[in-house]
Amino acid sequence: MREKYLFDYLVVPGQQRKYLHYHQTKEQKLSALAEVVNKCQACSLRKKATQVVFGAGNPEAKLMLVGEAPGAEEDKQGLPFVGVAGQLLNKILAAVEIKREEVYLANILKCRPPANRQPSEKEIKLCLPHLLEQIKIIDPQIIVCLGAVAAKALVNPEARISLIRGKWFEYGNARLMATFHPAALLRDQSKKRFVWYDMQKVRDAYRLLI
Ligand code: URA
Repeated sequence: MREKYLFDYLVVPGQQRKYLHYHQTKEQKLSALAEVVNKCQACSLRKKATQVVFGAGNPEAKLMLVGEAPGAEEDKQGLPFVGVAGQLLNKILAAVEIKREEVYLANILKCRPPANRQPSEKEIKLCLPHLLEQIKIIDPQIIVCLGAVAAKALVNPEARISLIRGKWFEYGNARLMATFHPAALLRDQSKKRFVWYDMQKVRDAYRLLI
């Protein structure tokens, strides 16, 4: 009898088809996907990056946070949000009593853009399928976009973060909210209170789920 597959296959430009099986756990599916993403050569970023920063956290997370791209420290450690912006994100999560180990963290781009420049439209287009597969596997109930790049990629390319932040959007089975990126708070302290408002709404919605 023909075996059933959860997804037809993962399509990664230039890569072999990779099947994900119904019976695999989310953790197993994520590691199968990570294997594919680690070999991705779809854009030139991989050549300059030390390593792919796939994402990290609880595969069963009900809350997923999506950032922009790895920075220098993330590129070095292979983990998302471990640099200065990550330390501020830890404080933000602690302030709303959400444990970092409970959530899943990923970025729009999996490889560091040189000198932390803005991701290009082409890089986002080529890398986004990886994140979309991660979202499908984790199937979170709440997604938080950290910053404009994530908000534009997941909500609307025309979205302006200052206008859409703090509002709930539907994203498949999940509710999605965008807020300012922690790095933006480091540059402009006046944005802090908005993130506080937004993350309180996220906390309230998250509390109803756990
Ligand atoms: N900024 C991001 O958007 N993601 C990271 O992982 C680190 C910094």
